[in-house]
Amino acid sequence: MKFFVDTADINEIRDLADTGLLDGVTTNPSLIAKSGKPFIPLIEEICAVVEGPVSAEVAATDYETMIKEGRKLAKIAHNVAVKVPLTPAGLKVCKELTDAGTMVNVTLCFSPAQGILAAKAGATFVSPFVGRLDDIGNDGLTLIRDLVTIYENYPHFQTEVLVASVRNPMHIIESAKMGAHVATCPPDVIRSLYKHPLTDKGLAQFVEDWKKTGQSIL
Ligand code: G3P
Repeated sequence: MKFFVDTADINEIRDLADTGLLDGVTTNPSLIAKSGKPFIPLIEEICAVVEGPVSAEVAATDYETMIKEGRKLAKIAHNVAVKVPLTPAGLKVCKELTDAGTMVNVTLCFSPAQGILAAKAGATFVSPFVGRLDDIGNDGLTLIRDLVTIYENYPHFQTEVLVASVRNPMHIIESAKMGAHVATCPPDVIRSLYKHPLTDKGLAQFVEDWKKTGQSIL
């Protein structure tokens, strides 16, 4: 399973890239607004830090403006994945950009039917929002299972399921069990994956016992 970080905070991105476990980055207009930085230079900076796909989302909702924005974003760096909404205009842009060799992430996917459309439009990634479905009393993970199953039934679909709106480690673990290709997670959720009290306890004991030996490895 690939890990993307869902943030536009360059310091967080640098810190997580340094772990060697980061495969990409996703941003959205809300995260860009939170960063307080100008969009295009920020995406350029992120693309220089992370080798994998960096999602940069269009701002327009009409086809004509969206395609222009998408082409401009695609020129920022070779690893930009243009993010478009799951709308008729967004999928039209998706088809055109993927045909031209640009990676596209189709976002705001909330149903298996929408996921089928994204795959037919040739999306590189589809972003189902698990947390937001949970928030309204649905089971977000059921959507992940449905999308993985559907895509497996049609090997010519090359679209990867990119689990988004991840709120906790169980979203990641369950998605991994289902075979989702990617999870994009807030930085704190990625860091929480390392934690287990028995690891801390066990390590403290090993350190203490090693001291008793009076030895040094180096
Ligand atoms: O980037 C899309 C998605 O991950 C947003 O998550 O927490 O705003 O629902 P959230």
